[in-house]
Amino acid sequence: MVALDHASPQVRSYAGVVATTQAASGSRTRSPGTATVRSSVALKALMAVSGLIMILFLLAHMYGNLKVFAGPAAFDDYSHHLRTLGEPFLPYAGFLWILRAVLTVSVIAHFVSALSLWARAHRARGGTKRYQSSKARRGVQRTYASFTLRWGGIVILLFVIFHILNLSTGTIHPGGVTGSPYGRLTNSFHNVPVLIAYVVSMLVVGLHLRHGVWSALTTLGANHGERSRRNLNILSIGITVVVTVGFLLVPFSVVAGVVR
Ligand code: HEM
Repeated sequence: MVALDHASPQVRSYAGVVATTQAASGSRTRSPGTATVRSSVALKALMAVSGLIMILFLLAHMYGNLKVFAGPAAFDDYSHHLRTLGEPFLPYAGFLWILRAVLTVSVIAHFVSALSLWARAHRARGGTKRYQSSKARRGVQRTYASFTLRWGGIVILLFVIFHILNLSTGTIHPGGVTGSPYGRLTNSFHNVPVLIAYVVSMLVVGLHLRHGVWSALTTLGANHGERSRRNLNILSIGITVVVTVGFLLVPFSVVAGVVR
């Protein structure tokens, strides 16, 4: 394993799949079954593709939110437009429902593949009692990236549930009830606990993206050689900064009084 520390991501990734599949097939000495290796590779690909779909949504959502700087009427218009998009070919809110369906399938695929891969890797290590290390809190080898992705994913899932109930359906309405999407947004960010929850969640989204973009594109074969690794690093940091700063601009502008 020591030699793998300096190996390319593909080699490490393959080694992970092999270790995982050896455990899954109950063997530590034989080569993994082809079918199991294939299913681990397929799970990684599913996780990468569903993650990239959600990144595209995040970029579009962040860009759309910037309409808030055009004032209440423009923002509410934009929200209304999202529901009338595609009419008369689509029913009212038809586009939104298609988007919701794609996102729901992506979230489920991402979550289920993450859980399955985690369970396989866990079994491959022989549970929590093997390979004790002084590096990690509970004596189990754990990297910063995997910790961020795993726990970050759970925080983001909880955030999205709260966020939809807050800004989309208006079920949770800190600061007052209003039918206006712009009003829901400004009311919410004037509430300090909600503001803190949003800021922390956006930072967690940023950390998740930093490692997630890298990991997804590596899985899809974009990480080969020193040069592509450098480009991948620039791309993942770039997307992270654009999404995080773009999202945070809105709550901070409400607090600063730029958006009222
Ligand atoms: C400060 C950051 C954010 C702001 C200000 C914001 C704002 C909004 C607003 C105003 C809506 C309601 C749109 C409407 O009903 O017309 C909405 C919906 C939504 N947002 Fe965000 N959002 C933010 C971050 C995020 C993040 C990070 C995610 C995902 C991780 C996300 C996912 C969603 C989803 C899934 C919906 C529901 C769309 C629907 O089905 O109605 N948002 N957001």
